[in-house]
Amino acid sequence: MIATLNGVRLSFIDEGQGQTILFVHGFPLSRAIWQPQIEAFVQNYRVIAPDLRGHGESSAPAGVYAMATLAEDLQALVAERQCGPVVLVGHSMGGYISFAFYRKFPQSVRALVLFCTRAIADSAEGKMARENLAQRSEQEGAAAVAAQMLPKMFAPATAIARPALVESVRTVMLATSINGLTGSLRGMAARPSALDLLPHITVPTLVIAGENDLIVPASESAALAEAIPQAQLAMIPRAGHLASLENAAAVIVPMQEFLEKI
Ligand code: MLT
Repeated sequence: MIATLNGVRLSFIDEGQGQTILFVHGFPLSRAIWQPQIEAFVQNYRVIAPDLRGHGESSAPAGVYAMATLAEDLQALVAERQCGPVVLVGHSMGGYISFAFYRKFPQSVRALVLFCTRAIADSAEGKMARENLAQRSEQEGAAAVAAQMLPKMFAPATAIARPALVESVRTVMLATSINGLTGSLRGMAARPSALDLLPHITVPTLVIAGENDLIVPASESAALAEAIPQAQLAMIPRAGHLASLENAAAVIVPMQEFLEKI
């Protein structure tokens, strides 16, 4: 489906019935990373999964994509679909957006699933690396970003054993527009820390970590779960940053248990 929301043409799916799960992908990806979970949960839940602005089939305006703006896109989607409050599932950059969303629209959140993500802001060095990559993508296109990001997305064992999966994610990355790449990189670099928010999260929260995540180390996800009152932690074996695809079944089980309890 397509709707113009918050001034942007957003592509999304909205399928199934019941409590809404809103799946938010990371960078530089698309809703395709949630395919196994969408197929599993659509049986018993309403599942909404957008392509964020600048990604997938959504339009890609120029400018910096502040995490708060991306959160406003999601709130416009929730309002348009009349589906709140939602179980908000955010992968990596999708998690940064989830923190911004919870700050701005807590009434729209029934529960949080924080997926291979972190609360801290970028270091000065990290911000510089983002700007360098943004400039390279302006000059060389999405291939520069895919070359840098793809090797970190998977557990080393996945990268060796599942070349077709790696190639399918490369295709998603290469389809990301230059505005989407630069807007998101600069938006992530500018994002504030969410550490102050963590003790004030009052909705049920599940933190999911890939045991071999090269971008957000599992120990950092464990610390994130510790910092949120009552949060649970699910450690996904044989998986890296893209645990939703690398070990899809092992992600679905703890999510299902969590959803049944809330
Ligand atoms: C993502 O998967 O969304 C990115 O790795 C997040 C980041 O670069 O901080």
